Amino acid sequence: MANKSLQLAKAEKNDEFYTQYHDIEKEITAYIEYNPDVFRGKTILLPCDDPEWSNFTKFFAQNFERFGLKKLISTSYAADSKNYKSDYQPTLFETSDSQYNKNKTSKNGKIFTLAKDKTGDGKINVDDLEWYYLEGDGDFRSDEIKKLRDEADIIITNPPFSLFREFLMWIIEANKQFVIIGNLSIITTKEVFPLIKNNKMWLGKGFHAGNAYFSTPFAKEYAEGVYNPKTGLVKFRNCCWFTNLDHGRRHQFLPLMTMADNLKYSKHKEIKGKKSYDHYDNYKAIEVPFTDAIPSDYDGVMGVPVSFLNKHNPDQFEILGSDYNVKEGLLPKIVNPKWKDKIDRGYLNNKRLYTRILIKHKKKTI
Ligand SMILES: C[S@@+](CC[C@H](N)C(=O)[O-])C[C@H]1O[C@@H](n2cnc3c(N)ncnc32)[C@H](O)[C@@H]1O
Repeated sequence: MANKSLQLAKAEKNDEFYTQYHDIEKEITAYIEYNPDVFRGKTILLPCDDPEWSNFTKFFAQNFERFGLKKLISTSYAADSKNYKSDYQPTLFETSDSQYNKNKTSKNGKIFTLAKDKTGDGKINVDDLEWYYLEGDGDFRSDEIKKLRDEADIIITNPPFSLFREFLMWIIEANKQFVIIGNLSIITTKEVFPLIKNNKMWLGKGFHAGNAYFSTPFAKEYAEGVYNPKTGLVKFRNCCWFTNLDHGRRHQFLPLMTMADNLKYSKHKEIKGKKSYDHYDNYKAIEVPFTDAIPSDYDGVMGVPVSFLNKHNPDQFEILGSDYNVKEGLLPKIVNPKWKDKIDRGYLNNKRLYTRILIKHKKKTI
């Protein structure tokens, strides 16, 4: 846990984590498989990027025609404005271009756009990207980038970890479609959770087992186990994609056993052999410590770990709220009236549990 907090703290300060091509490809393929026309005729904005070498820019530029895009816009944040001060050197790509400006190179952001066949080779791809310096530093909060946001249909990126919530709200206030990377720990916060609960945002296909690998200029600052010297990548746990684009996994019904079968056959020692599921001390609900142990035939309220959201199918389950919502007084019916102590979390035999999400079956699945 201490390690995880340290990782997060470092990540929150630094922000320079670059997404791998195959992670982007795997995630975006899930939306394309569900709806081959999901990007057709759309303008995609990739903010908080570094278009000269970003894998997001590369991926969407390479797939511009296949996806039927109308326009691709990618912007970067000026080196001088970043939290992390590097020994900045412009690339040869930039210095060899006639518009290279040594005053602007580290102070201004850049914009790359792709909309037409500039080279005249009959294809629209990476070679047709056009670029210029932004007026400002490329801060997503600036009027200049807000205008691009408003022009776009879909916003896709791995935003700065330190500004994740602000970035998400920046998208939501403009009512845009999006696919962005974040950490699962953000989910139960008061700005983010209502979006999940009200089906305005959900988890994407995701990284394998929630482990995401990023390249970063300061990988070596991380302990072994986080930084792999062979790959030069750092590994963060609980990373996920947040989106409001639909995909197939969210419509797959989770196969579940009845309560009786779970108690008899569950692979979890915490469940198998017990007489019944535990009831919380303070909530009128049962504790279900593993998503695959949700009983198919229980009609009441169930508390599940946050990782349940990786399997959530809105046709199968209803999300009632989180333990934080109980504390806020939003779910008074769930509180056990006999309980006179804290309601900040679920308690079992007076032991405070990890964060829980409170759910119910939408309809019987047996
Ligand atoms: C997590 S990195 C991801 C980079 C790239 N999108 C990728 O996935 O490879 C986030 C980037 O956002 C930049 N950034 C930080 N604050 C920003 C801001 N206020 N506006 C725009 N970009 C910002 C950081 O410098 C960093 O390069």
